Amino acid sequence: MSALIEIHDMHKVYNPGENEVRALDGIDLSIDRNEFVAIIGQSGSGKSTLMNMLGCLDVPTSGQYILNGEDVSDLTDNELSDIRNKEIGFIFQGFNLIATLTAFENVELPLIYRGVAGRVREELSVTALEKVGLGNRMDHKPSEMSGGQQQRVAIARAIAQAPPIILADEPTGNLDSGSSEEILGILKNLHKEGRTVIIITHDNDIARRADRVIKIRDGRIESDSGKKETEIEAETFMKEPDTGTVEERLETDSEIMEGQLKTDPDNGNTEIDPDREEMKLNRN
Ligand SMILES: Nc1ncnc2c1ncn2[C@@H]1O[C@H](COP(=O)(O)OP(=O)(O)OP(=O)(O)O)[C@@H](O)[C@H]1O
Ligand SMILES: [Mg+2]
Repeated sequence: MSALIEIHDMHKVYNPGENEVRALDGIDLSIDRNEFVAIIGQSGSGKSTLMNMLGCLDVPTSGQYILNGEDVSDLTDNELSDIRNKEIGFIFQGFNLIATLTAFENVELPLIYRGVAGRVREELSVTALEKVGLGNRMDHKPSEMSGGQQQRVAIARAIAQAPPIILADEPTGNLDSGSSEEILGILKNLHKEGRTVIIITHDNDIARRADRVIKIRDGRIESDSGKKETEIEAETFMKEPDTGTVEERLETDSEIMEGQLKTDPDNGNTEIDPDREEMKLNRN
């Protein structure tokens, strides 16, 4: 199976000419389905620029980006927007919630834009908010929630339609260490469900918890810890995590979420998955 993400000799030059900034300066990168990758690097090293490319929010000056086997390097804005809607859930440092809308409405809004019907919209929004432990905060506005809770709303918004790829740019940058842990726990659970999670962070402690760490410096990859062996757990639960309709993916998700008690195939005993237990405890 080919890689989910393949980038060849990607360059991004801002302000070509005298004051040009080579934000990406020859990136080669391959990421498989269901990896959990952290991208680290100093301020200005090109992390967000790379994320914009990965998320089809911008196009490179040169080079190739193959996503899911399709060359997306020079698609039109509309085509890119289709891919974003289908494939990618974004999480940003600043949460980007709308202050006048409740948690529920914030999660629902992109679904309205995407033309999802009312009943389905409601179900997707509620499910997503419950998944991040905010079932009892649906009617709260952002100003009535903690930073960690706001970020969880933003995650619910990103995952409501079960996108196969989660891109997070400094998702814990504005949070205290306790809330950061919560967010990381949720991202780890999404990874266990079979999603590909790519997280940009300044925080080495967070990066260490990823399976693979890629360090960017001056628009180039300075180091790459490489891919980790496939997660056995994800394999057990999911056959084809990145394919199928939204409904099929959601169904698989709920099966996995029910897998909070998972069976050990060797001896038939059940054991509690500590990550899920952690998430359950956070629901209050
Ligand atoms: N729209 C733009 N126009 C011109 N230069 C830009 C633009 N966006 C980014 N840059 C420049 O490109 C370089 C990489 O920026 P980028 O935002 O990718 O860095 P970063 O690694 O995400 O930094 P930080 O950790 O501070 O968020 C920087 O030198 C930045 O000033
Ligand atoms: Mg940045």
